[in-house]
Amino acid sequence: MEADLVARLEEKERQLERYAADLRETFKAERARSAQLRASYMATVRALANAVEARDAYTGHHAERVAAYGLELARTAALDIADDPQTEFGFLLHDVGKVAVPDAILFKPAPLTDEERVLMERHPVIGWEILRDIDFLGDAKLVVRHHHERWDGRGYPDSLAGDDIPPAARVFAVADTLDALTTDRPYRPAGSFADARAIIRAGAGRQFCPTSVAALETVSDERLEELRTGIS
Ligand SMILES: [Fe+2]
Repeated sequence: MEADLVARLEEKERQLERYAADLRETFKAERARSAQLRASYMATVRALANAVEARDAYTGHHAERVAAYGLELARTAALDIADDPQTEFGFLLHDVGKVAVPDAILFKPAPLTDEERVLMERHPVIGWEILRDIDFLGDAKLVVRHHHERWDGRGYPDSLAGDDIPPAARVFAVADTLDALTTDRPYRPAGSFADARAIIRAGAGRQFCPTSVAALETVSDERLEELRTGIS
């Protein structure tokens, strides 16, 4: 009788061990699947971003540099958005709406007419519309829509001001200007980080979010250079 009980207990124990092993396997497979999913999200975002950049040899890798600068600023300012993959997705995709801007406007070597500027300034909304139904791009879409807003409310497309601008879009504006000023353009050579910093500092509280500008002050030129060379 007692031997029977021991045998049954042993069988129960083996059964529990099998359950535990199954659970471990399921958990491992689930983790691998979600890593795979994350990787394919990232690959999709990069493919889309590259499709936009391929048109413009001059700004090559602009989106990746802006993403690297922007994430560094977000981390420096200890913003929650630094750990959210949506932030990097948004940085990489910010100009996706430029696919709808004609070459003659996008690459015009002279100032745009009013009519051309209206077309050009539609790109954040067009980008947002392109991505609207992609569920995995949650808050990334907010960066795409609001990356040309200004702290003083004089930006576009929605004239948002101050804290109404999504945090990632506020950080983005500083990173974008930093990259624009420190890369060669058809009409001028690249400026130094020091010159770019001075221009950005002058725009704090008007064009740029003061917290994001302050974050830039704490990132050294060496670190910016390291991020830049890491990409090209
Ligand atoms: Fe843009």
